[in-house]
Amino acid sequence: MNVCFNVRLDSLYYWMFLEGVIGMTLIKVDELTKVFQRQQKTPGFAGTMKDLFYRQYTDKVAVDSISFEIGRGEIVGYIGPNGAGKSTTIKMLSGILVPTSGIVEVGGLVPYRSRKEYSRRIGVVFGQRTQLWWDIPVSESFRLMKYMYKISDQDYKRSIELFSDILDIDEFMNAPVRQLSLGQRMRADLCAALLHNPDILYLDEPTIGLDVVVKENIREFIKQVNLERKTTVILTTHDMSDIEKLCSRVIVIDRGKLMYDGVLNQLKTIYGSGETMIVETADPVQPWDELAHLGIDDFDYDGKSITIKYDKTVVNSTAILRVLMSKITITDFVVHPCEIEQIIRKMYENPLSAAVAAGS
Ligand SMILES: Nc1ncnc2c1ncn2[C@@H]1O[C@H](COP(=O)(O)OP(=O)(O)O)[C@@H](O)[C@H]1O
Ligand SMILES: [Mg+2]
Repeated sequence: MNVCFNVRLDSLYYWMFLEGVIGMTLIKVDELTKVFQRQQKTPGFAGTMKDLFYRQYTDKVAVDSISFEIGRGEIVGYIGPNGAGKSTTIKMLSGILVPTSGIVEVGGLVPYRSRKEYSRRIGVVFGQRTQLWWDIPVSESFRLMKYMYKISDQDYKRSIELFSDILDIDEFMNAPVRQLSLGQRMRADLCAALLHNPDILYLDEPTIGLDVVVKENIREFIKQVNLERKTTVILTTHDMSDIEKLCSRVIVIDRGKLMYDGVLNQLKTIYGSGETMIVETADPVQPWDELAHLGIDDFDYDGKSITIKYDKTVVNSTAILRVLMSKITITDFVVHPCEIEQIIRKMYENPLSAAVAAGS
C-alpha cells in the first residue's frame, strides 16, 4: 500500500519538475557549516572557581559543510536522528542563526542579513514552542498578524476559509493559547505561519507528540497548502510516516553531515528493509535463544512486551511469530516499517552505497 503511494509520489515529483510545477532553484545552500562553542565545565567547587576565571571552550560542529538546492514548490523532508543538526539547519535557513561558514541564499536574499524583508516571505513553525501570544485568544493573535503583515481583508478571509476547511480551527479560535491542547496549538501555529501566504514554510518537527488523527490532519493540510499555493515546504521530522505521506524527496543528515539526498523510494530500496515487531505477552518465558537462532540480536523486553528489530530481507515476520508462538502465548502484535534510526544505521554498515546514494 505504502509502496504504491510512494511510486505515485515519485512519479508525481518528476512530472511536476518536467511540467515546471516545481520551479527553478529557490533555496541554495553551499558548504553550510555551524560550529557552536560550548564552555567546558571542570567538576567540583575548585573547578567551578577555575572556570570563572579561565573559561575554556570546545567546538561542537552541528552542521558540517552541507550543500543542496531546493526548487520552488517542492516538499522536502529533512531527516536524521536526535542531535543530527536538523534544527540548526532550519534556524540558519530561516535567518535566526548566522552560519559559521558557507552560503545560504533564498530567493536572492541572504536570510540573516535581510531579516525584515525575508520574514515576509517565510513561515516558520517549531514543534516544541509556539510563536503565538500566550494570553490572548487565537483570533486576536491572527488579527494582530493581519495588521503586522498588512494582509488585505480579502486575502485574510480566503486564508481563514482554507484553514477552517481542513484544520477545523473554529473550535479553538476564541480560546487563549495557554488553554489549547498540543494538537490545537500546533494547528493554530501552522495557520499563523501561513496567514501572510509565504513562499516558503519551514516546519521543525510539526507532528511531534501529536496523536494519529491530528498528525493526519496536519499532513493533509500541508499537502493542500503546497498544491493550492505552491508553497515550498521543508520539514524536519522523526516520523517516517510524515515523510511517506508528504515528501518525494528526502535529505538525510547525521552528525551534521549529509548522508543522502534523493527520492524516498531509492532510500527505502537500499536501506529500508528494517522492521520492528512489538509482541504483547503475559508469559514470563523468555524466548531469547529462539530469536538468536533466527539470527536476531536486537530485542528488548519491558515486562509486558517484546520489541524485536530485524532486517526483513534476512528473516520475515511470519518466521519470528512462528518461533515465538512455540514458546509463549501472544496476546497481540504489531509490525512497524523501517524507522529513520534503522535507515541511518544501515547507511553506516554499508557506506559504499550510502556514498553512491548521496551522489558523492
Ligand atoms: N546553541 C547551542 N549551543 C551549543 N550546542 C548546540 C546549540 N544548539 C544545538 N547544539 C548542538 O548541536 C547539535 C545539533 O543540534 P540540533 O540542530 O538541535 O539537532 P536536531 O534538531 O537534529 O536534533 C547537537 O549536538 C546539539 O547539542
Ligand atoms: Mg531538532
